[in-house]
Amino acid sequence: MTDPTWLFGYGSLMWRQDFPYIDARRAYIPGWTRRFWQGSHDHRGVQTDPGRVVTLIEAPGERCYGRAFLIEPDIFEHLDHREKNGYERNTVATFFDDASAPGIVYVAATSNFAFLGDAPLNEIAAHIKRCAGPSGTNIDYLLELARTLRQLDISDPHVFELETLVLATQNI
Ligand code: SIN
Repeated sequence: MTDPTWLFGYGSLMWRQDFPYIDARRAYIPGWTRRFWQGSHDHRGVQTDPGRVVTLIEAPGERCYGRAFLIEPDIFEHLDHREKNGYERNTVATFFDDASAPGIVYVAATSNFAFLGDAPLNEIAAHIKRCAGPSGTNIDYLLELARTLRQLDISDPHVFELETLVLATQNI
């Protein structure tokens, strides 16, 4: 890769840009959905109590909306380190309002060592409330994600239901 490339972000990459970028646009990728099914030992949890963060799960017929960043190829070295806890680069067609372009997305596959998988939403919410790691609390990750999705006018029932559950029980 030598030319600037689109990076599709659907989790923390949407709101925490510790990398330079040339352009940023709301975008979507078809066939995927966002789920809090990935363990985080290095950002929102620790080795003995990994937090829960988002990954993408294949979902034919659905679209995952997020934010795409046009970046120089040498930035991927930094991103590979940031996303090292089970995420791998995947090539993906990235769609904008008026165009599409090839892009890269970090996906933590169901076979990766840190994958936690599905659980009842109230259990996922309790898990998120409990955990924290070097990048902050797991609750802040969820709330920042929900806030960023609203800012981009993106609806995601899985994320918004978890936000409601976490906020409803926060002071109990
Ligand atoms: C992403 O944001 O695109 C990957 C998942 C994450 O870092 O939260």
